[in-house]
Amino acid sequence: MFEIKAKDNMGRVGVLKTKHGNVKTPALMPVIHPRKQAIDVAKYGADIVITNAYLIYKDDDLKKEAVEKGLHELIHFDGPIMTDSGSFQLSVYGDVEITNKEVIEFQELINTDIGTSLDIPTAPFVEREKAESDLEITLERAREAVEYKKDQNMEMLLNSVVQGSTFLDLRRECARELSKLDADLYPIGAVVPLMESYHYKDLVDVVMNSMKELPDSTARHLMGAGHPMIFALCVAMGCDLFDSAAYILYAEDDRLLSTRGTYKLENLQEMPCSCEVCCKYTPDELRAMPKEQRRDLIAQHNLHVSFAELRLIRQAIYEGSLMELVEERCRAHPALLEAVRQLGNYSQVLEKYDPRSKKSAFFYTGPESLCRSEVLRHMQKLREMPKKRDLIILPPTRKPYSKFISGKLGEFYIYGAEQEIDLDNTDFMVLDIPFGLIPLEIDEVYPLSQNDAPKTRDVDSIEFVEDFISEFVEYYEQVLIHSRVIKDLQIGLYNKCISSDEIRYQKDDIKKVKAIADYQFGVGAGEALFKGNINIEKSKKTGKIRHIYDGKVLLVNMRASDSFLVLSKEGAKRLHNAMPYPQNRVVVNKDSEPFALDGKSVFCKFVVDCDDDIRSNDEVLIVNEEDKLLAYGKALLGACEIKEFQTGQAIKTRKGMKK
Ligand code: GUN
Ligand code: ZN
Repeated sequence: MFEIKAKDNMGRVGVLKTKHGNVKTPALMPVIHPRKQAIDVAKYGADIVITNAYLIYKDDDLKKEAVEKGLHELIHFDGPIMTDSGSFQLSVYGDVEITNKEVIEFQELINTDIGTSLDIPTAPFVEREKAESDLEITLERAREAVEYKKDQNMEMLLNSVVQGSTFLDLRRECARELSKLDADLYPIGAVVPLMESYHYKDLVDVVMNSMKELPDSTARHLMGAGHPMIFALCVAMGCDLFDSAAYILYAEDDRLLSTRGTYKLENLQEMPCSCEVCCKYTPDELRAMPKEQRRDLIAQHNLHVSFAELRLIRQAIYEGSLMELVEERCRAHPALLEAVRQLGNYSQVLEKYDPRSKKSAFFYTGPESLCRSEVLRHMQKLREMPKKRDLIILPPTRKPYSKFISGKLGEFYIYGAEQEIDLDNTDFMVLDIPFGLIPLEIDEVYPLSQNDAPKTRDVDSIEFVEDFISEFVEYYEQVLIHSRVIKDLQIGLYNKCISSDEIRYQKDDIKKVKAIADYQFGVGAGEALFKGNINIEKSKKTGKIRHIYDGKVLLVNMRASDSFLVLSKEGAKRLHNAMPYPQNRVVVNKDSEPFALDGKSVFCKFVVDCDDDIRSNDEVLIVNEEDKLLAYGKALLGACEIKEFQTGQAIKTRKGMKK
């Protein structure tokens, strides 16, 4: 039903399959009122729409027509249609004249593509008791709907809505219970009041806590979210679908949507975008128009900016720049800035989904960038790396740093035990924003060179690197900090200043590839991979390492774009021998063994276990349940997704081990 094509953080580009066609996600479903359909939304980019089954059910004429001709003809839309159940009316009027079973039956009867059970949208910030008792009913109805659908062999897909108000444990509990049901889609409900009141920080908590417990393999829908200003943020949290009447409600009120916020027509001197409407008319001309004509034109603009934003978001996911877009969008309003800062508190969760390597460079857009997955991941890796006795900290140069650092290095201040410098027992690292300390040997690995930050430091990043240094100096006996670093940071943990001709950085290709292997595959991988008569072949054009051999036997290739190591058959064997189970492993079941041996790609449903540290784009070993090496390849998903998904590819196999 749902297939993921590309990912960035928790955001995904996917395809949702319905009986009326496929939908590319993230997607926006404009709300179609079954009686007051003002404009042809398909013309402005809608591939899927949502309408209200309860409103149709309650209206005798509409009901008759829907039952006779079907929903698609009723609202003149031949693509996929989702229907809501009347829950929203329930939350506004306190009551509806339909039962859960009746609304499920009716939605199937009128041939909806995706139906919804009669959940109870519990408002934010209610008493806990109310949230709990509502939740019980919501869960009961979701279970009833799923059973009824199975019982009656219904064709439509089914939504099971996550509720729980602003109680994060209730959101998690609800999501956990619903995921046991195997529903087709999981909407997150009752968030409209949070969005209307700019409680975006609470929205982040509610969405992230729901997402934590929802299956990754299913499409997730943020109900009632229709302002393009928040799409990027919500996609980065894992939302695949949005629906809203905002495009028409705002238009009726002479308000124009934009990714920067909302414009009131009465305040406009200039049209704020380049859509057809904004290019053709001036604000004065729009103001002078009859109400209905003006409304339709503004709605057209609103749809245009909403769909344009979704295209931009999908493109950002393809290129790996979604968080840059989120950080940019969240500067449109202080409440959104607060929300993206709150999202930073969930970076441990986001990191699990974030691809190891991306097409685009990491751009620092402000202090929020310091909380991104990549930064957290580097810190964790660096803590695990083996450490020499002493550490030398250098100021940044052009990247890759190791290419531009040579000769006499300058003056250093000493921290810790003062002792004779032994360069063979010293780590060399550059201190920079946003990755803190970067060992020179691994500085070409993504994203340690593929990033950019302003040279003028902000207070937050200075504090960030100070904390970084404070932590890392404790791991060494003696630390020499370059005088420029001291000056930039104004840190005061040094003793005396020395300047020695002996302190030089000596490039060593073998040390470098071993360090990269340790960083990539785990400590010990470098020693195990690069034994024997090591022979390093470089590109004549760029001077970069390309192939590494033992004698004439290829061990690994180094990928030019991100400097990660790509295993050969011999490399895979050595890594497998040296690294204990389950490191770097994806375990497949008996049935798929011959396919793996033969070099066929591995599908998720054949995977029985894998290393929790695997992220998409990692080079991995494919083994059987006795840990026999079958093949090696590139992970297309992260460990948590590989374990959960039942469809789609997990590993793009490079080669099977069959002779
Ligand atoms: N539309 C907006 N919010 C909700 C919700 O919580 N439940 C349902 N069914 N529809 C909604
Ligand atoms: Zn416009």
